[in-house]
Amino acid sequence: MSYNLLKGKKGIIFGALDEKSIAWKVAMRAKEEGAEFVLTNAPLAMRMGEINKLAEHCNAQIIPADATSVEDLENLFTQAQEILGGKLDFVLHSIGMSPNIRKGKSYGDLNYEWFLKTLDISALSFHKVMHVAEKQDAMNEWGSIVALSYIAAQRVFPDYTDMSQAKAVLESIARNYGYRLGRSKKIRVNTVSQSPTKTTAGTGVGGFDAFFEYADKMSPLGNAPAEACADYCISLFSDLTRYVTMQNLMHDGGFSTMGISEDIVEMISK
Ligand SMILES: NC(=O)c1ccc[n+]([C@@H]2O[C@H](COP(=O)([O-])OP(=O)(O)OC[C@H]3O[C@@H](n4cnc5c(N)ncnc54)[C@H](O)[C@@H]3O)[C@@H](O)[C@H]2O)c1
Repeated sequence: MSYNLLKGKKGIIFGALDEKSIAWKVAMRAKEEGAEFVLTNAPLAMRMGEINKLAEHCNAQIIPADATSVEDLENLFTQAQEILGGKLDFVLHSIGMSPNIRKGKSYGDLNYEWFLKTLDISALSFHKVMHVAEKQDAMNEWGSIVALSYIAAQRVFPDYTDMSQAKAVLESIARNYGYRLGRSKKIRVNTVSQSPTKTTAGTGVGGFDAFFEYADKMSPLGNAPAEACADYCISLFSDLTRYVTMQNLMHDGGFSTMGISEDIVEMISK
């Protein structure tokens, strides 16, 4: 159902790789709610071609940008404002990648070059995005910037390895840049901490099926699907959440508040 929540709003959506991507669902919902936006992803991801389908559906242009490159981001923000004909109201950062996870490295055996890459792609890129937006004065007052996080920033999930640190840094950047942009332009900055979700990045984490199942059984509402995460992001881009900023917002069906659930007790007692 559409409520026209983003009518007249302009934005940039990072990270739609394929139909399963959380960013893909956000783009579909943003379109339904009347937003105009530009899609972006790393040049390598573009070659897979899937994003073209989304762009066509949303009547959106695609501007390739490696989110670790300030130069690419400068070009992206300049072009996005030209294409959309003005400043931006929302930005979605839906980016995560760990070479250590990709190569199956355990926490005690991390490659440190790759660790730095994980941090750069999954966390510092968020700082760079806001740095460029601020420098170009690219956002309207009361704009909204959202990045996606995971509870491994606060709790231990052994297979999440260096991504846990990346998410902790990401959430800290949201608070610190949130302060800065809040003061200067009333722009809000938040992270949404999402349930395990069956996407390319999600299922790449070792033992994903087990912790997907575990989280589902722990959460009174069950795991939050990607579509529901998109709904939440839309509410954060809308004018209905203008005083929510510098928060890490749990979107996890209640998982983060649980100690143990009856489903888990039952499973273990069997
Ligand atoms: N899937 C989950 O279980 C889950 C849970 C909580 C949070 N998240 C977070 O949600 C976000 C989106 O992930 P997803 O699950 O939709 O998976 P996804 O694999 O569909 O999306 C990850 C995106 O990051 C992009 N990316 C990687 N390197 C990049 C770079 N250098 N520059 C620009 N883009 C780059 C990829 O191309 C891809 O589009 C990530 O931050 C992820 O950590 C995912």
